[in-house]
Amino acid sequence: MNENQNINEAVNSAAEPVMRQVDTQNPAISIKKINKTIGKRHILHDISFDAYGSEVFGFLGPNGAGKTTTIKMIVGLLSTDDGEISICGSDINKDFEKALSYVGGIVENPEMYKQLTGYQNLQQYARMRDGVTEERIKEVVELVGLSNRINEKITKYSLGMRQRLGVAQAILHRPKVLILDEPTNGLDPAGIKELRDILKKLAHEEGVCVIVSSHLMSEMELMCDRVGVIANGQMIGVYSIEELLKSSAGDTTDFVIDTDDNASVCAMLSQYDAKLSEEGRIEIILPSDTAMETIASINALIISNGTKLYTVSEKPKKKLEDVFIEMTQQEGDGQIA
Ligand SMILES: Nc1ncnc2c1ncn2[C@@H]1O[C@H](COP(=O)(O)OP(=O)(O)O)[C@@H](O)[C@H]1O
Ligand SMILES: [Mg+2]
Repeated sequence: MNENQNINEAVNSAAEPVMRQVDTQNPAISIKKINKTIGKRHILHDISFDAYGSEVFGFLGPNGAGKTTTIKMIVGLLSTDDGEISICGSDINKDFEKALSYVGGIVENPEMYKQLTGYQNLQQYARMRDGVTEERIKEVVELVGLSNRINEKITKYSLGMRQRLGVAQAILHRPKVLILDEPTNGLDPAGIKELRDILKKLAHEEGVCVIVSSHLMSEMELMCDRVGVIANGQMIGVYSIEELLKSSAGDTTDFVIDTDDNASVCAMLSQYDAKLSEEGRIEIILPSDTAMETIASINALIISNGTKLYTVSEKPKKKLEDVFIEMTQQEGDGQIA
């Protein structure tokens, strides 16, 4: 199997079961060995990665790792010292305008006119772009779920709504690549979920290459198909979320079982070392290689006893957040700039 097939498999198996094809032969963004020194500080060291259409790619690293610096280079706000950035096949240093025409992004807070409505803000922005019709404006408003509030002044918007208006603005010209620097900062859980759903939809249904940066693995786990991990200006690796989950799973699997009589069932399962959790559910740790067979027998036993079996769920053993912290500390020697 060649390298591309490998990546393709990882990328294609990482998402939820929607049928989507990722074209790994033609990356939407290809970054090769970029370096950046500002003053005397060598901030980025040989950063390389590819990201594709139809995927949400997470750029994950602790504060000061170099995410914003890299993203500024991709959106043309900062020059590279060397290396190559190519967007949909156009080199940013050789064909700046064409390369940038494929990109939409929010790096710092999106510029908005506070005294205008959401809709007027989008119209204002549309005037600066070629070929953005009123119809397209309505389409993006719908996509980011702001139809009901779009005629209100943005001073009345929550942070989450402003962020979604920012996304609407960034995708007006149908960019093939959408880049958002730490877009969930400051959002509440509902706001984070709304944004996550929008970004996944853009990638998985509209084929956009969505790149989001974050310092939180827990967020990336839910939002992304793959993550590139960066620490101290160095790319540690690119992984599919599925691959990371598998590697953190370990030799045993924890199950949580809920029935209409947990105490009796727990006693009945003493041979499996079943325990009652603080919430009163049954917890069992089983060797991963035989876990499914054993769980099937346990289910049958519970049901044959006349007990109602509500749920059996599997708990991931090690949190990806821990895997991420281990990864970035090892590589960065624990120094977080
Ligand atoms: N203009 C600048 N001058 C000097 N150092 C900078 C400048 N911009 C960023 N840095 C340094 O580069 C490193 C990476 O910063 P940044 O890309 O903002 O990280 P992140 O976005 O991952 O938090 C940090 O140590 C930061 O202090
Ligand atoms: Mg940053």
